[in-house]
Amino acid sequence: MRTNRNLIMLGTLAVGLLLCAGTAALAQIPDEFTNLQVFPKDVGKQDLVVAMRNFSMGLGVRCTHCHVTTTEGDTSTMDWASDDLPTKKDARRMMQMVATINTQLLPEDKDKDGLRVQCVTCHRGLQNPDTLDKVLMKEYSAGGVEASIARYKTLREKYFGSGSFDFGPYALVGVAEQLAQRKGDMEAAVQIMQLNVENNPTSSDAHVMLAQLQAVKGDKAGAIVSLEAALKLDPNNSQAKMTLSQLQPPTGESAKTE
Ligand code: HEC
Ligand code: HEC
Repeated sequence: MRTNRNLIMLGTLAVGLLLCAGTAALAQIPDEFTNLQVFPKDVGKQDLVVAMRNFSMGLGVRCTHCHVTTTEGDTSTMDWASDDLPTKKDARRMMQMVATINTQLLPEDKDKDGLRVQCVTCHRGLQNPDTLDKVLMKEYSAGGVEASIARYKTLREKYFGSGSFDFGPYALVGVAEQLAQRKGDMEAAVQIMQLNVENNPTSSDAHVMLAQLQAVKGDKAGAIVSLEAALKLDPNNSQAKMTLSQLQPPTGESAKTE
């Protein structure tokens, strides 16, 4: 009982805090809107503010990302109606896109509680909804694999656990593949899979993927070490067993084929 009460108290407190933050912002927002081109002209203030907060949180930005202040650096004097910032015009284009998806492309939401697309669906708290492989490949083109690795580390530090980027054991496979196949840079591909193992040390598959690239690159000894690590984590990893037996055929058999 007591725990429940405490939880309820905490809940009330949290709502109170949110309301306070909300009222401060609300105070500066006019009751009439003069430049709505996508929202209905008579949208309620509360609805508009909720939508604007969803924009901000979906993109991980503040209101000033899309709205100009009339006095530089003073957010108490906002010119909400102004279209000076290109991001605001981009956002309008996005609003239209989201409306098209939700009303024309997705099946009709008959009971009104179905899954709909929102800014956060794609943006995941980012200004630009880039994926990890896109960001790392851009870095590679600009500054080589060292730049990709450095970027991965800073992104992981900043975003791990936020859902903005996938740092799981399979997220770097695409990067390694592109480096190996399209760029023909095996060394870089191996380094990316090494980075993957360092950041996902308990994933048996991560070790196997590293081993496979090491083997292709001609580093048989390294590949065997990686496969042994994979099998230590998961003795039933069939991919690991198979790759290991290809690299280390039982002595009798290898003698036969040679
Ligand atoms: C990602 C860009 C973006 C962010 C972030 C954003 N807005 Fe907006 N805002 C818009 C767009 C686009 C419109 C115009 C919508 C339309 O044309 O129907 C708008 C319109 C408004 C208007 C109506 C202005 C008028 O008179 O026409 C207000 C008020 C407003 N926003 C407040 C806010 C507040 C408060 C925040 C922060 C909590 C915020 N916005 C964050 C893009 C943004
Ligand atoms: C279906 C996925 C998707 C959804 C949903 C989506 N966006 Fe985007 N957004 C993108 C993509 C892709 C880009 C990059 C391409 C571009 O700029 O047109 C982008 C770019 C943007 C940009 C420009 C970024 C920059 O700084 O260059 C803004 C602003 C933006 N979106 C706002 C929004 C807002 C606000 C919403 C919700 C109303 C939204 N987006 C919903 C996919 C999406």
